Amino acid sequence: MKEPLKIGLMDSGMGGLSVLKEILKYETELEVIYFGDLKNSPYGEKNASTILELTRDVCKRLIQEDVKAILLACNTATSAAAETLRKEFSIPIFGMEPAIKPAILQNPGKRVALLATPVTQKEEKLQKLKKDLKADDLLLPVSCPGLAGLVDRGDFIGAEEYLKPILKKLREEGVEIVVLGCTHYVFLKEILLKNIPELKLYDGNSGTIKHLLNSLGKKNPNLGSTEGEGIDYKLLLNSEENFHFELADRLLNSKSGV
Ligand code: DGL
Repeated sequence: MKEPLKIGLMDSGMGGLSVLKEILKYETELEVIYFGDLKNSPYGEKNASTILELTRDVCKRLIQEDVKAILLACNTATSAAAETLRKEFSIPIFGMEPAIKPAILQNPGKRVALLATPVTQKEEKLQKLKKDLKADDLLLPVSCPGLAGLVDRGDFIGAEEYLKPILKKLREEGVEIVVLGCTHYVFLKEILLKNIPELKLYDGNSGTIKHLLNSLGKKNPNLGSTEGEGIDYKLLLNSEENFHFELADRLLNSKSGV
């Protein structure tokens, strides 16, 4: 039997599991090794050179597992490290992109809020994307320092409290289109919709996985009938806390978010 292609996924912590969930919807010969750098999470408030070092270390760790490609399932790591690491490693390095483009194109003239970490908001990659889309006037950047950390701790009540003033501002400004520019925030969809059901939420997960599978030569892979069918995965979390492993399981197995 043909060996499945082994790929690595990395994130600062739990966020990339939302991306892993998206891959697991497909039936294709892949094996996924996921590394959550919980010892160093969250990344979003660190400086770019520290994030580059941490991401490089995680990629080296994944390469020891013999992965043939790596997806930085983290917008922050992508912004701070993808370009450099693509030059350093011989295997393909993929990254995330906030779904601003579909959000703007599918909602012409409407304002779009981008929720992301301070690093993602500040880095060159996003500035370039905004310039290419001529989206500066329509985009409302909302930096969320600390929010990913709440997800990593499984503190969804704290996350809701955190989001309330942000949601109030969106309501006041009449903004209903929201891009989740951090893979952790995908686990907060239900909370966001519970507070404002009219919100139209965008994230980059499904687009990224389609692009990844296509680039790996997996043309038109089938969507499985049950999540998780067909693809094997292994979770590596550098945490000594039991609850991190329980939370990872819970997030991976929940139908929606929390
Ligand atoms: N999941 C990450 C992202 O997509 C990182 C969040 C963090 O570590 O601050 O940006």
